[in-house]
Amino acid sequence: MNANLQIKSFEEYKEKYAKSIEDPAGFWGEIAEEFVWQKKWDTVVEWNFDEPKIEWFKGAKLNITENALDRHLEKRGNKIALIWEPNDPKENVIRFTYQELHNRVCQFANGLKAKGIQKGDRVCIYMPMIPELMIAVLACARIGAIHSVIFAGFSATAVADRVNDAQAKMIITADGLNRGAKQIPLKRVIDEALELCTSVETVIVHDCLGWMPTMVEDRDCWWHDVVKDQSIVCPAEPMDAEDMLFILYTSGSTGKPKGVVHTCGGYMVYTAYTFQNVYQYEASDIYWCTADIGWITGHSYIVYGPLLSGATTVMFEGIPTYPDPGRFWQIIDKHSVTQFLTAPTAIRSLMAFGEDHVLSYSLDSLKVLGTVGEPINEEAWKWYYLHVGKERCPITDNWWQTETGGIMISGIGNLSPMKPTYAGYPMPGIHPVLLDQEGKEIQEANVEGYLCIKAPWPSMLRTTYGDHERCRINYFSHYKGYYFTGDGAKRDEDGMYRIIGRIDDVINVSGHRFGTAEIENAINTNSHVIESAVVGYPHPVKGQSIYAFVVMDGAVEDEAMSKGEIVETVVAEIGKIALPEKIQFVTGLPKTRSGKIMRRILRKVAEGDTSNLGDTSTLLDPLVVDEIVANAL
Ligand code: WTA
Repeated sequence: MNANLQIKSFEEYKEKYAKSIEDPAGFWGEIAEEFVWQKKWDTVVEWNFDEPKIEWFKGAKLNITENALDRHLEKRGNKIALIWEPNDPKENVIRFTYQELHNRVCQFANGLKAKGIQKGDRVCIYMPMIPELMIAVLACARIGAIHSVIFAGFSATAVADRVNDAQAKMIITADGLNRGAKQIPLKRVIDEALELCTSVETVIVHDCLGWMPTMVEDRDCWWHDVVKDQSIVCPAEPMDAEDMLFILYTSGSTGKPKGVVHTCGGYMVYTAYTFQNVYQYEASDIYWCTADIGWITGHSYIVYGPLLSGATTVMFEGIPTYPDPGRFWQIIDKHSVTQFLTAPTAIRSLMAFGEDHVLSYSLDSLKVLGTVGEPINEEAWKWYYLHVGKERCPITDNWWQTETGGIMISGIGNLSPMKPTYAGYPMPGIHPVLLDQEGKEIQEANVEGYLCIKAPWPSMLRTTYGDHERCRINYFSHYKGYYFTGDGAKRDEDGMYRIIGRIDDVINVSGHRFGTAEIENAINTNSHVIESAVVGYPHPVKGQSIYAFVVMDGAVEDEAMSKGEIVETVVAEIGKIALPEKIQFVTGLPKTRSGKIMRRILRKVAEGDTSNLGDTSTLLDPLVVDEIVANAL
């Protein structure tokens, strides 16, 4: 739709890129003109990375749902906005036109208001991948409530941590969810979490599985009762461009997950712009991203980016391997999907089933492929290119982060050159640099450095909820004047970036982020654990897996039982998604004399590379290393 937003050639990309760096205000101001504003901005951007303080489109008023829904109604009201594909292929697909989605969002928004939710209130959403999840997100945005979606695989304790940090007034959930052949309870998790929370006044429960969970009087209510008798007209709350749109919790190198804050105006402009360019979106396209809306990819590239562009977005309830490993390809053929975005871990897990499941589908409709969330290895890239894209479709490798809000480095549809394992080029307006140990910008090609960003972009995080200093320390204090990504990268002669991976204590398991400290804290809550150290190691399907070294309060008599207990502790504290694949009991951890754990050594042990552990003589107890190496798993 927004023809003015779209780059049409690689030459044009280079021109636009140069302009965007020279004159960011001119560049983004022009793009922002394509949206509906209740009031235009006074300034395009004001910023400093010291506090940090970042303001885009200051003085402007808007509501993101007016841009994602209302403005399409006149010309595209009957166009399909959402295609929902159920977990079970035998069940019915649900389709919403823009008009229908608009009506549902407004109706639920009125229901939220009737339950006392107002602008600025925080609402946590813990739901299956069903249309009501998208409706709940947009309904919050409609009335200016701040949504915080919590991935429906987190445990009660993890939910409680997030709800308490956000001081949420409401939780929206369901009785349970379908996941392949399994059904997983959600409401029960919320009940348990709420024993640890005091801020929540209301829980709205969507009846997904007919389980009839116990409902707490004066607190719990059914979704269908909340929307009953509500009008489908709900005025869009006028929001300042810099008002909060949502909080999304993510893991960093320090203990507790932090609430990354995104604001209305900049996030809107940037997610739509990157969606339309990276995927070279056209009005007739059917676009599908397999992420979960519980993560940033789902926020930006299932919900906001596509809807802001008037696109048809597909949402899938299930998993890649149910009922069989051909499920993704079957869905692509069924809905004639034109753009497909998934994670390297999904590709690798499907590769393990051979090729037959993919070769039996035509996949003719596909035009552009994407990968996101972790580095893609060459073998997986080639498999994807050959068997899914049939050597016709470009693969765009989207590098970005929860904190960046939108895609930062990537190929651009079929316009830019491709090189397996290289993410590609910076998006217009993005100024990446590679810094060396001393913080000097590396100019040479093919030298690895710390990936930092030199200037603000519209969808960058503004703060971490309730703790601005944490945001400053985490992202803006490593190198003065730069946003620090935590990733290592290199750049080739042509200016293409290759992301190497995290250089901090963040582990990326199947595209999910965990801090080592977060998992250690979870393990340490087990009463028999004295201390623990967790590292990541390469895993053929998950990308990385978790290896835990654990010191217990006495000799371990039954290893299997003790491991089982530790596994249970992690499931209770975080969720199954953070399970350590390997647990090694040790009598001590390698520490420096000042008490710092030498993770470098543990990482090598986990990787199975113990030939050169470096100098261990300065350790507090060098003998402990011999024991760890001898018993390595
Ligand atoms: C990693 C996901 C290589 C990276 C959108 C980053 C990637 C972290 C890629 C953010 C990619 C994401 N190539 N690595 N295309 N995309 N990463 O916040 O380490 O869940 O810092 O955001 O994932 O993960 P997050």
